[in-house]
Amino acid sequence: MTDLKRGLSEAVAAAFAAAGLPADLGRVTPSDRPDLADFQCNGALAAAKTARRDPREIAASVTATLAADPRLAAVEIAGLGFINIRVSDKTLSERAQEIAADPRAGARLVDGPRRIMVDYGGPNVAKPMHVGHLRASIIGESIKRIYRFRGDVVVGDAHFGDWGYQMGLLIGAVMDEDAFIKALMDQLNSRARPLTPEEEKQAFSALDERVTLADLDRLYPMAAARGKSEPDYRDRARKLTAELQAKTQGYYLLWRHFARVTRVALERDFHALGIDFDLWKGESDVDDLIAPMVQELDAKGLLVNDQGARIIRVAREGDKRELPPLLVVSSEGSAMYGTTDLATILDRRKSFDPSHILYVVDQRQADHFEIVFRAAYQAGYAREGSLEHIGFGTMNGTDGKPFKTREGGVLKLNDMIEMTRTKARERLREADLGIELDPDSFEDTAQKVAVAALKFADLQNFRGTSYVFDLDRFSSFEGKTGPYLLYQAVRVKSLLRKAEAEGSAPGPITVTETAERDLVLLLDAFDQALVDAYDKKAPNFVAEHAFKLAQAFSKFYAACPILPAEPPVRTSRLGLAQVTLRQLELALDLLGVAAPERM
Ligand code: ARG
Repeated sequence: MTDLKRGLSEAVAAAFAAAGLPADLGRVTPSDRPDLADFQCNGALAAAKTARRDPREIAASVTATLAADPRLAAVEIAGLGFINIRVSDKTLSERAQEIAADPRAGARLVDGPRRIMVDYGGPNVAKPMHVGHLRASIIGESIKRIYRFRGDVVVGDAHFGDWGYQMGLLIGAVMDEDAFIKALMDQLNSRARPLTPEEEKQAFSALDERVTLADLDRLYPMAAARGKSEPDYRDRARKLTAELQAKTQGYYLLWRHFARVTRVALERDFHALGIDFDLWKGESDVDDLIAPMVQELDAKGLLVNDQGARIIRVAREGDKRELPPLLVVSSEGSAMYGTTDLATILDRRKSFDPSHILYVVDQRQADHFEIVFRAAYQAGYAREGSLEHIGFGTMNGTDGKPFKTREGGVLKLNDMIEMTRTKARERLREADLGIELDPDSFEDTAQKVAVAALKFADLQNFRGTSYVFDLDRFSSFEGKTGPYLLYQAVRVKSLLRKAEAEGSAPGPITVTETAERDLVLLLDAFDQALVDAYDKKAPNFVAEHAFKLAQAFSKFYAACPILPAEPPVRTSRLGLAQVTLRQLELALDLLGVAAPERM
């Protein structure tokens, strides 16, 4: 099955070839002038330049060949030699039928499925998330879904930040505050034999009582600030980090407690946003791989001593900027952020063997990844070009700086969701959509509206673009917003319910009206939107498609009476509504958004 654009391109390409011209000039695109044509081809102008011929004459010979194509209602030459194509109602009807019969609503699968790892989200133990994490999660989730939908084998990993200096800061802060914990640490650290499972359980339940998520949230910013301003405090935190990484019994136990408490809360918040990682591997998971890796890197002659630290130089001739080296082992003997990233590449190769790893992380880490990737290629840990950083801009406040809470703090995911949900409830109440929802359905709908508002606001922009967080605008049911899309989907659902209640079912599609034709042309363009999103790792192509589809449906709904029409017009229009709903919901799902039944 192929979409009209591809099918027509083949025919036009053949017509170019028949005229003795390069076939690849015969590409068609959706028309810039939908009032005049459905598709256009600009190839005659390009051909004219190289062949030194008159473009209109080339266009005439191509259109003469095309005139016999039964799919076309009209082929015309416009302006300097553009070829304008209008397809017949019958062709559009058949194409609509084909999409309606396809569970994938017209989306093709990739030819050779690949194994793709998506590294996204990147939350940390204790350190609160900033807007970069929110964007990484929203964009990464969508890319994961798009890749998977097109047929690749995809695994998404949160790459939990659980092994760095912030852990030493936190261990110190907790011990300072709670003498009981300090005593427990002293006791466990000096203990020769490991805890029995029963003792371990007891220790964890004591920690559950004494060190909660709220404690971590409160202590971390304080400790981070002191680490910045007090060198002694920082040195102690570094020492504690090294002792943790050496798996000193007490600290290791306390750390496991931190990681577990944070992770439970994070998973809950992410889940509420429709973001579910397949893997929650942490930086700590590759700890055992680091020592042998360092040895191997050394054996390969890649490590250089640099004032007590061990580095890999990655700068290349012709670099526009000078890239710093990868810091593999610090002068204190610790593994660094980049070291765990390098070891993680090895770990992923062993466990999943991806052909590509996509790192959906804040643009501000571009250098970090370039350095890690080059080191990995030099070490032979990954095929050149198989590692890719998918960067993105920031979500800004109205002041144009990365979004902060009203108090000036970094955002907590949970607060962000709650704030958006509150707004969604308000919007639902003021919209007064004429239906009564029971409290549970109301809450469920508010949640879906909130998620749609947040995600669509993000995904409608090309990821590289920064945008301003404007909850009022994002949550509106009108305009280019997530809630508008949900509202259109819900309208179709209620239409189909009503039809069913009246005993009319969707039937074979026959298009005649302009609004019907426009809707089918959009349905036909779904595959191209997916291909663009896939190739460019850019969900905005899917977001744009979903929006245009919803708009086209809205126009069709206004122009073409459905329930009042007699069959077969009624059943045809119901069929069109049904396939539109399916494609719209598929597209929304690829953005990580779900439509409620009613709103
Ligand atoms: N935890 C990191 C941070 O907060 C992001 C992790 C991104 N992924 C990676 N493989 N480094 O900055």
